[in-house]
Amino acid sequence: SVSRSACNSKGSMIVVSNRLPFILKRNDKTGELERKASAGGLVTAVAPVVIRGGGIWVGWPGMHLDDPNEKIPESNPNDKTPTAGLLSEKIVPIYAEPKLFDSYYNGCCNGTFWPLFHSMPDRATFIADHWKAYIKCNEEFAEKTVHALHLLKQQKGKNGNAPPIVWVHDYHLMLAANWIRQRVEEDDIKCKLAFFLHIPFPPWDIFRLFPWSDEVLQGILGCDMVGFHITDYCLNFIDCCQRNLGCRVDRKNLLVELGGRTICVRPLPIGVPFDRFVQLAQNAKPVLSNANQQVILGVDRLDYTKGLVHRLKAFERLLERYPEHIEKVVLLQISVPSRTDVKEYQDLKEEMDQLVGRINGRFTTPNWSPIRYIYGCVGQDELAAFYRDAAVALVTPLRDGMNLVAKEFVACQINTPPGVLIVSPFAGAGEMMHEALICNPYELDDAAEVTHRALIMPEDERIVRMNHLRRREQLNDVDSWMKAFLKAMDSLEEEADDIGAT
Ligand code: G6P
Repeated sequence: SVSRSACNSKGSMIVVSNRLPFILKRNDKTGELERKASAGGLVTAVAPVVIRGGGIWVGWPGMHLDDPNEKIPESNPNDKTPTAGLLSEKIVPIYAEPKLFDSYYNGCCNGTFWPLFHSMPDRATFIADHWKAYIKCNEEFAEKTVHALHLLKQQKGKNGNAPPIVWVHDYHLMLAANWIRQRVEEDDIKCKLAFFLHIPFPPWDIFRLFPWSDEVLQGILGCDMVGFHITDYCLNFIDCCQRNLGCRVDRKNLLVELGGRTICVRPLPIGVPFDRFVQLAQNAKPVLSNANQQVILGVDRLDYTKGLVHRLKAFERLLERYPEHIEKVVLLQISVPSRTDVKEYQDLKEEMDQLVGRINGRFTTPNWSPIRYIYGCVGQDELAAFYRDAAVALVTPLRDGMNLVAKEFVACQINTPPGVLIVSPFAGAGEMMHEALICNPYELDDAAEVTHRALIMPEDERIVRMNHLRRREQLNDVDSWMKAFLKAMDSLEEEADDIGAT
């Protein structure tokens, strides 16, 4: 895990994210609030750093709270997740009015920025009221962050005089940093501000379709450091700063200058808690019963960026072209319900249900169906067993910031012979996982060919490829991402020299 010294020598950390690292639920019987822990990899890496440094987490608790005096509960005594040690006094929740929050979250975040940043502008809506709600909610997050900074100032102590790091996350909060900066300057509070985007940053030609794109850039540039998964997204962002705002930029050193300040832009590719997945895979009971069948696995939130319709059609193409796989191969697709209040997601659910029915109707025999479709959540143990025992993993998004399923799959490949990873070049993960088979999800014939190749790949080739993939992901796990972030924050002073050539 992240070294103690890396955390204690520096200031405390305030994390600002749309969601808190757990969900609050009201117990039907008692009416009391309860925490529902989150097992995400990001939380695993970030929560310990926040806790050790006495930091604070600002975010939305997943439900609307209307009484600001109601106490946030402590974690459940049986909770073994990394957030268990996050005391309620270290949590600053957002209380947004439900209609406003809906326009911000379902409207602007998921109806506009999500499709636009994934380069799918036809799916994006541009509605001034949603943008206004986004501004208001970002102001609210910024307000609460300044409050958190004051709390930290009062609790002087173990972190001495080191200024706290405020770390703002993702596309929900692209305006918050600028307000935080203005407010801390007024209140004379010292802090370092960082932003990390978990989704792609699109090319300028797409980004500028957003009517208020200048404001978005100015919001992000309120930070001292801006992180993206891969260099391409960094360069897209820098390009937008130059072309929209006329900023001086340095593409070689990834710097942007605005209002006399220099902002560092950094590629920080996120990883997964590799060793935890290995352990889960070692302990998980088998859940795929038929050893004579090869399982092709897909695990995704039910989201149109994930290329699920293309994936099912490519699988159909495989069965048409290579009937030898009939009764020998199964596609197990796990689709986790997501953003079900947004129409695009409801439509996709319908389309998938119909497509699964049509393909199964076409190929099913008395003893076999080609697609097993799970619309729901699966637990971590079961998931690790699926990853471990699958012959092929299909990670074929049309566009994806990183995609952690690809990385979790390789972590769980502990058996010999291992399975084969197929990954889309349009995912951040595809950029670095060179030994995976690459497949363009838009080209159904190619996707069918690549899947066939994976199914018949000789053992020795599978072993060589998987060994390389696993070594890289073990080295670049989520803790090393966290360390890289802290190191980048540390070196800010040295980097803030004069900007070079454009
Ligand atoms: C993506 C985003 C996250 C988000 C997650 C789930 O990974 O980058 O910020 O939390 O999707 O989506 P949701 O809308 O349920 O938070």
